[in-house]
Parts: sequence; C-alpha cells; structure tokens
Amino acid sequence: MANFILKTNEFEPILLNRAEGSWIWDIDGNKYLDCESGMWCVNLGHNHPKVVHAIKTQLDKLIHRNKGFLTPITLEAAEQLLKFFPNNYDKLTFLNSGTEAMEFGINFAKKVTKRNKVLSLQDSYLGAYGIAKTSSFTSLEESKFKIPYPVCNSEVCDCLENYQANIDDIFRKYSSDLACFVLEPVMVSGGVFKPCKDFVQYICKKIQDSGGLVVIDEVTTGMGRTGCKFGYELHEITPDVVVLGKALGNGYPVSAIITNSSFEAKLSSSELYYAQSHQLDPLGAAIVKSVLEVFHEEKIIEKSREKNQKLKDILYGLNHSFIKEIRSYGMIFGIQILPKNQMSCEELILKLKNKLLDAGILIGFNLSKEFIRLLPPLNIQINELEFLKEEITKVFNSI
Ligand SMILES: Cc1ncc(COP(=O)(O)O)c(C=O)c1O
Repeated sequence: MANFILKTNEFEPILLNRAEGSWIWDIDGNKYLDCESGMWCVNLGHNHPKVVHAIKTQLDKLIHRNKGFLTPITLEAAEQLLKFFPNNYDKLTFLNSGTEAMEFGINFAKKVTKRNKVLSLQDSYLGAYGIAKTSSFTSLEESKFKIPYPVCNSEVCDCLENYQANIDDIFRKYSSDLACFVLEPVMVSGGVFKPCKDFVQYICKKIQDSGGLVVIDEVTTGMGRTGCKFGYELHEITPDVVVLGKALGNGYPVSAIITNSSFEAKLSSSELYYAQSHQLDPLGAAIVKSVLEVFHEEKIIEKSREKNQKLKDILYGLNHSFIKEIRSYGMIFGIQILPKNQMSCEELILKLKNKLLDAGILIGFNLSKEFIRLLPPLNIQINELEFLKEEITKVFNSI
C-alpha cells in the first residue's frame, strides 16, 4: 500500500484496526496490551461503552455549531467539570488540543497581569508549538526564565535550599515582568520526575505574592493519572489557571482551561476574545460529560490505586543490571535504562520495545532521556497486569 503520510515521526510497521479497553488490534488480528493508553489519553480504556454511547447519541443530535451559540450539553459539561475539582473554580472554556489550551492559559495570564515573561522548569514538556514549546525542554532556546528541575526521591530534601538563591535572583530582577509560573506537576515526557513540594510551593507563593499567576499543565497528569484527580494536589498548591487535555476526552480531542471570574473581570471583551472553529463544540462537551460520569460511577481513581500497587510490584520486581532506576507516580511509570555490554541505551531500549511489541505489549520510550515508559489505562484489569508481568519478565530475561 502506498504511504502518503508525511514522516513527522517514526511509525511502527503495523497498521492498527480497532480497540477495546486496554487492548488494541492490528489489521492482521494480533492484539496488544496498550500500556501507553494511546498517547496517554484513554485513562478509561479504549472505546469505553458509555463514552461511545454518548458520542453516538450526540452525533445524531448536533456535532458542531457557529461560535455565536452555546448548547445545553456544553453548559452541563462545564458545570460537571467545575464540580469535579477539589477547589473552587467558576469559569472555563473547551478547546481541542493540550497545546492549544496551554497557549490560551499562558496568554490569558499575560493579559490578566499585563506582563510578558513566563517562568517554567527547564525539563518540562508543555506543548508542541508557541510559548508552550519555548517553555519546554524540546525548545532549543535557553532562557533565564527556566529554573532547573530539582528531583529527589525524598520528601525531606535540600532541593529548595539548592535553588533558592537562583529563584530569588530571578524574582529580584524580573518579578514585575513575570506573568506566570507554568508547571507540569509530574514531568512525564521528560523522564517521570516530580519536583519537590517545598520548591514548588516556594515559587508559587513568590509568583502569586508578586501579582503573577500559577498556570498548571494537567494535560497528562490530570484526570486521575497520578492517583489524585489532579497532579497539583501532590504539591498542595492552589493554581490560578488549570489546563486539561488528553484524558478529558478519553481519546477524542477536547481540552479545557479552567480559572476564576475574578481574572475574567480584569479583561475587556476584546482582550478575552478568542475563536476557533471547534471551541465549545457540543460533541466534545458530550464526551467530557460522559467521561466525568464514568469517573464517578466506576470509582476509577479509587480503584486505580490497587492496580498502581500491583504494577509497581511487577516493575520493581524486575531485577536487571541494565535497569538504573524505576520511578512512579500513580499510573505513570518510568524505567531508566543503562547500557549493557556492547549495547548502547538506545539499542537496548529499541530491542526491549520491539521484543515487547512481538509479545503483545505496547510501551513508550524516550531515546534521548534513556527511559521506557508505561501509562496504562487507569482501569486496566488485574488479569491484564498478570499477562504484562509474564511477558515483560520473559522479555527482560532474554536480554
Ligand atoms: C504535559 C503536557 N502538556 C501539553 C501537551 C500537549 O498536548 P497536545 O499533544 O494535546 O497538544 C502534552 C502532550 O504530550 C503534555 O504531555
């Protein structure tokens, strides 16, 4: 078959056909346990029947409309999503991708504060383009507005002490220019690291005291992924703007930025103006509403904790000289790889990935950061984890 697709990234030599729950099938009928949840999107598993039902029902009613009109389902989804938060927010808009919502959130903070600079942590990933990208580790641009990402595995640590002078210096020079601090509460693409709580709280307090906003990127860590509803709960902070994407639509492209009317009130209607074709579309809203219902009805987060422990036991039980470290936060797992004999990390990671694929397990990896990643659906079944244990043990032993 001719392939007319631009090679924007590497593609596996198999074509996928259908999916259900934690499994995805190729066109030849081979099935794979999807330990990446698509692109970390299907926290409820692929094609969750209640989400599919909501899509079909809404498809028959109204998919799309002109931006000058709202629909009941959009209002209901907005209300349900605001209620889902552990703290009070009263305004939101629905957008499409995580990057789009990050761009909106950062620009919103700039307009509210009438300031221009964005503070971020050096190794986080915040989006594919725009300011989100330049604030991310994938940007080539080095900036004095990026603070190194301190990581340690201890709750009692000296990370804040080590970076305090650096942070204070940035605030001394630029506090009246800083519109926001943008934080990915657990860095996923960059290697599965959580910055220390004291450090995060210190920067958040500084920026909020100086009149800037805290913008939290929950595109990947939100919707139960870390074992809490939102990753920012791990840091015990109160963000001013929260950005959601990925699992909000469980595979359908819908994202959101959530904030408060007190910030909205600082903007004129022309400053607030934003319009793209599919913003607030009823189909996306119907999906968000059904996703939230499944979270409640199936106690997805509460039940994911047992799976998290089981997967932790499986991965921490792998004992090999080429495993440098295993890191995990809720249902986010990273295995840091070391070179082995003549094999480089890159070769080893690709070998593991290919052997696991042959064994029916789909995992993620990052060659430059030298780690393997697993973010399975939060409702993966215990027997599916047993299958994972058997296959991953065999593959790792074969190296
Ligand atoms: C933390 C984080 N922020 C933002 C994004 C961008 O989201 P999207 O790919 O939907 O534009 C991603 C995507 O992986 C992400 O992991």
